[in-house]
Amino acid sequence: MSENRTRFRLDQRRAPIYEALEQFRQMRVVPFDVPGHKRGRGNPELTAFLGQQCVGVDVNSMKPLDNLCHPVSVIREAEELAADAFGAAHAFLMVGGTTSSVQSMVLTACKRGDEIILPRNVHRSVLNALVLCGAVPVYVNPEVDKRLGISLGMKREQVAKAIKEHPNAVAVLVNNPTYYGICSDLRAIVKMAHEAGMLCLADEAHGTHFYFGNGLPVSAMAAGADMASVSMHKSGGSLTQSSLLLIGPNVHQGYVRQIINLTQTTSGSYLLMSSLDISRRNLALRGRQVFHQVADMAEYAREEINAVGGYYAFGKELCNGNSVFDFDTTKLSVHTLDIGLAGIEVYDILRDEYDIQIEFGDIGNILAYLSIGDRPQEIERLVSALAEIKRRYHTDGTGLLSQEYIDPVVAASPQEAFYAPKKSLPLRETEGMVCSEFVMCYPPGIPILAPGERITKEILNYIEYAKAKGCSMTGPEDPDILHLNVLA
Ligand SMILES: Cc1ncc(COP(=O)(O)O)c(C=O)c1O
Repeated sequence: MSENRTRFRLDQRRAPIYEALEQFRQMRVVPFDVPGHKRGRGNPELTAFLGQQCVGVDVNSMKPLDNLCHPVSVIREAEELAADAFGAAHAFLMVGGTTSSVQSMVLTACKRGDEIILPRNVHRSVLNALVLCGAVPVYVNPEVDKRLGISLGMKREQVAKAIKEHPNAVAVLVNNPTYYGICSDLRAIVKMAHEAGMLCLADEAHGTHFYFGNGLPVSAMAAGADMASVSMHKSGGSLTQSSLLLIGPNVHQGYVRQIINLTQTTSGSYLLMSSLDISRRNLALRGRQVFHQVADMAEYAREEINAVGGYYAFGKELCNGNSVFDFDTTKLSVHTLDIGLAGIEVYDILRDEYDIQIEFGDIGNILAYLSIGDRPQEIERLVSALAEIKRRYHTDGTGLLSQEYIDPVVAASPQEAFYAPKKSLPLRETEGMVCSEFVMCYPPGIPILAPGERITKEILNYIEYAKAKGCSMTGPEDPDILHLNVLA
C-alpha cells in the first residue's frame, strides 16, 4: 500500500484534519456557532441530499480544528505534509479553486506596473490577477500546431528574448502543462528566470499527477520553480474547488499568507480542507501506481481511437525538444476535424446521444479527462461511441475553422483597460477598437480577447463561429455576447 513512503520526510499515512474532524464528531459538541444548519438538523432536505456524514463535519474554525487564515495546529500539519508530499518548501491549502492559487501566486510576485512574462494561452485566472494588481503582461506568443490548431508551449529562445528585452520583469509564468498536456522546457525556463533575477511561477492546474508519476513531465517544484498552483480537485481526486499553492525556499511564506488572506474567505470549508488532506495522503501512498494505470489507459485509448481512423488522438510523438518539450500521457486529446466535425460538435453528440460527458470540445479537438476514478470499461464505451459518431455524422468538413490561437495586439494593460471609461457597441462595430473585457469559451477558459487588446476582424469571425458551433461563451457584461465593451 505505501509504495513510496521512503521518498518522504514525514509520515504520509497521517491526515491531521481528517483525524481532528473524526475526533470532533465523537465529542458531540453542542453547536452555538455557525454554520446555522447545526450539523444538518436545521436543514433536513440538505441533510437527506448530502448525508449526515457530510453535514456533520461542515463546521467552523475553532481551536481544536485550527483556522485556515492563520494555521497553527492541524491545518498547519496538513500543509506540512502536503509540502513534503509535493517536494515544496511550504504548501497552502486553498479553498477558492486554483483560481485563488493562481491569483495569490501572481499577486505575490507582482505589484502595479511590474512586468510579467507569460504565454498568451493562459487561463483567465492569470489575466484576472493582472486586472487586480495592475501588472503588465509581456506575452510570448506560443507556436501553433497547424494541423491541430492548438497552441504549444513557449520556446526557450522566445523566453530568452523576452527576458533580454524586458530585464526588469519580475517573473516568468509557465503552463505546466497546457490543457492539452503540452509542456515547455520548464527546467531551462526556471534557470533563465533565476539568472535574470526573476521568479518562475507555474500554473499546474493540470499537473497534480506530475508529482506522483513515473515517466510523466517534470513537476514545477522538481524543476526548481518558485511557486506552483496545483488543482488537487482535477487529477488529484479532492473535492471541487480545493487546491494547493506550493512555494519553493526563496519565497517568503508569511508574505504569501498575507496575500492569500487579501481575498480568501474567513470561513474555510472543512469539507474542502479534509478532502485535500485525505487526497494528499492517497496520492503519497498510492499515486505512482494509480497514475501509471491512468497513463496506460490513456495510451490504450489513443491506440484504439487512432485505429478507428479519421480521428487523431495525439501523444508523445508531438515532442520536438522545444515548444513541445514534453507531453502528459495521461491526457486524452483527440483532433476531430478530419471526420468533418468540430470538437465542440463531438462533445455535444457524446453527451446528448451517448450519455458521455467529456471535459471539453473546442474548435478542432476534444479532451477526455482521465484520472484516478476511471476504469477500462468506460474507456471502451468512449472508443465505441467515437467510432459510431464517425460512422453516423462524418461530413466533408466544408466551412470548418481550424485555428484556435490568434496573436493578440496589446494596446493597454488589463487593469487600465478594465477600469477605463468604456462604451458598449454591437459586436461587428467593435472592429479596430480596444476591448475592455474578457471573451472566452469555457472550458478551456483561455481568453480570445482580454481587456486592453485590439479587436480584429479575425477575432470577431472566431467569436461568431464559436458561438454558432455551440461553444459556451463567457466574459463580457452582455451575457449573449451581442455587444462588447470597448474603450470610449
Ligand atoms: C490552466 C488553468 N489554470 C487555472 C484554472 C483555475 O482552476 P479552478 O477552476 O480550480 O479555479 C483552470 C481551470 O480549469 C485552468 O485550466
